[in-house]
Amino acid sequence: METQLLEGKKLAEKMQSEMKVRVNSLLEKGKIPGLTVLLVGEDKASQVYVRNKERQATKVGIKSEIIRLPETISEAALIEQVEQLNEDASVHGILVQLPLPKHINEQEVLRKIDYSKDVDGFHPMNMGNFLLGNASALPCTPYGIMELLKAYDISLEGKNALVIGRSNIVGKPMALMLMEKNATITIAHSKTKNLKELAQQADVLVAAIGRGHMITGEFIKPGAVVIDVGMNRDEAGKLIGDVDTASVMGIASYVTPVPGGVGPMTITMLLDQTIKKVEAE
Ligand code: GUN
Repeated sequence: METQLLEGKKLAEKMQSEMKVRVNSLLEKGKIPGLTVLLVGEDKASQVYVRNKERQATKVGIKSEIIRLPETISEAALIEQVEQLNEDASVHGILVQLPLPKHINEQEVLRKIDYSKDVDGFHPMNMGNFLLGNASALPCTPYGIMELLKAYDISLEGKNALVIGRSNIVGKPMALMLMEKNATITIAHSKTKNLKELAQQADVLVAAIGRGHMITGEFIKPGAVVIDVGMNRDEAGKLIGDVDTASVMGIASYVTPVPGGVGPMTITMLLDQTIKKVEAE
């Protein structure tokens, strides 16, 4: 079977060029979408993600700012920063880059974001509304994956979908979105015993594990759609996914490359949700 790449980068470019038009029409009304990212500490991966978010935001015409805060900042001081941004009318989207240092309670900080400015969909109000089927912002990574599947006309109805990983930012919301499209979902995680057998039955497999090249061809049902959320570094420092892409070629029907698959879609959905906040004003 010929395996087709799900080219997130290309779709992201197309969506972003449409966003430029949307931002221009907002500018004509005197409205400039503003996105502020709070980055705490020196985590290397987070620094790269945040820089990418800022660069792409600027490219579509969003006014973007990164506030860099020291690793040692107290939870109270971080919350104060969030509250200042809540009050700032030029800021439409607030994003607190995760993970936060261990001494800070992530949930406490996220719940302090004005939920109408939550462009990540992580505020408990948005998470709750999402669970009930009427979210005003969605977690960007699974949302981007759903857009990618839609763009390639991949139907999910009645399919067996396996999500490997149960994080709040990918695994849990991913499973829910697939379920909403009438897939039959299974969630696997580090304690799952029969991962390979489950994977071999999956028509759609989403790998969000955080272990480089863990999913190889022998895990894949012939014809399956394979989505790779992994962003790992190999010994040489090269970016690699959770899926050994070369080994699934010829078995899967579709696979997302790393880089150029899910990553660009995540950022694109963040931009989309930021612009939507201003469009809805
Ligand atoms: N860390 C890894 N992915 C994300 C994301 O989508 N949003 C935020 N805020 N932090 C992340």
